[in-house]
Amino acid sequence: EESKKVVLEEDPSLPKAVKAKIGNLAPLSGQRVRVSGWVHRLRDQNKIIFIVLRDGTGYLQCVLSGRVAHTYEALTLTLESTVELVGTLQPVPDGKTAPGGHELIVDYWRVLGAAPGGDEAFTNRLNEKSDPSILADLRHLVIRGEIASAVLKLRAALLSSFRTSLVARDLLEVTPPCMVQTQVEGGATLFKFDYYGQPAFLTQSSQLYLETCLPSLGDVFCVQESFRAENSHTRRHLSEYTHLEAELAFITFDDLMNHIEGVICDTVERLLADPATAVLIKQLNPNFTAPSRPFLRLSYVDAIKWLNDHGIQHEAEDAKGNVIKDEAGNPKMVNHAVGDDIAEAAERRMTDILGVPVFLYGFPAELKAFYMKKMQTEGEGPVCTESCDLLMPGVGEIVGGSMRISDINELLAAYKREGIDPAPYYWFTDQRKYGTCEHGGYGLGVERFLAWLANRYTVRECSLYPRWPGRATP
Ligand code: 4AD
Repeated sequence: EESKKVVLEEDPSLPKAVKAKIGNLAPLSGQRVRVSGWVHRLRDQNKIIFIVLRDGTGYLQCVLSGRVAHTYEALTLTLESTVELVGTLQPVPDGKTAPGGHELIVDYWRVLGAAPGGDEAFTNRLNEKSDPSILADLRHLVIRGEIASAVLKLRAALLSSFRTSLVARDLLEVTPPCMVQTQVEGGATLFKFDYYGQPAFLTQSSQLYLETCLPSLGDVFCVQESFRAENSHTRRHLSEYTHLEAELAFITFDDLMNHIEGVICDTVERLLADPATAVLIKQLNPNFTAPSRPFLRLSYVDAIKWLNDHGIQHEAEDAKGNVIKDEAGNPKMVNHAVGDDIAEAAERRMTDILGVPVFLYGFPAELKAFYMKKMQTEGEGPVCTESCDLLMPGVGEIVGGSMRISDINELLAAYKREGIDPAPYYWFTDQRKYGTCEHGGYGLGVERFLAWLANRYTVRECSLYPRWPGRATP
């Protein structure tokens, strides 16, 4: 009864409080500060209330005792309510720990937005036992968690570090369109939509646009969403993903692989050198070690041999691409042959056995996109391309890149071979007409890279609001 009558007021005789974000509190030790955030954790111990406050920049332990702990609001406070707290910032007592090594001794506070208790309480909607489809529906609440938010913070640092690595190599950032009328990686995975009565697609890759920037801006990169209508329910496929792509002029295939390797190693090193991001990597992936250079390089033909030497087979398919089954209904397994696509399962087993980043290069033209430059090869075997995939342990392919056809006639022949109408590609073809050059580039799947760096089971954890077949909410 008594407690309901206590109404707190801020004491005007105390020193003025400095408004601050939790992440910026370190230099304010001993001072009176004002912080606002969400009640992340809540504990009542011998009439002292401990709040762990969260504001996105960090966590702060706040101690409410005496008068401030005996209000009605204090007794009915719930997790995830928003509060404003004012008090003196002090080092934690000897032998105790708290985030940042300090705690706020509160002299005034108020509730800004009370979260419900009872059936609607946060922990009743979402907890460790929630099944994956509930977690997907409640992604907006999941991201308030320590792990999910750490992944998103690391993602932001990763993008920033990539940008620094690319700008340091004289690449300029551009922003290509998402709504397009050309395909890059094959018609099967295009999302089609009506564009003022004309057919259009959501972009699969910004590569063709980056190529047009070379004569204007020099080497370029972009960080853009790509869209793939892939009916793959795997842990590395999204329908929308963040695609980091770069294009470089006057380079060789070897230069391209060296560049990819250098950008990745510099980006990771920068993250490990910054204490704020090193701590996130440590939290999410305690055993992480930076990869060493040079990366292993394995030609497609050698990879096929490696798979056969290690007894890694694939499902046999008939001429129509259907899996051949034995009498018991199990898929028939066969050795790999030169010309076969290396499927995801085989690729991942190989990377996991090797345990280091691997460049697979020189894929047959038959298996790859129309724009890829052919490799000069002697002797028998399929026509191969100057193409490379970078595979990482635990995730598989994170980068796909290649040198591009620079000769106009070769490109026109490639359209024809692939059954592509050259008309909508006039602007891409023009690159070979008005001053062509040897060039190449790559695309890196940001969620896959992050899954590798942060040791996440699926790319779905590495996207803010992941999209996969059947899922576009929230
Ligand atoms: O190998 P991809 O299809 O290559 C391209 O799109 C080239 N045009 C890029 C270029 O040269 N500029 O895709 C590149 C990378 C893959 O290695 C993978 O990391 C990622 O994009 N990726 C996906 N990530 C998540 N979900 C999907 N469905 C993805 N498809 C590709």
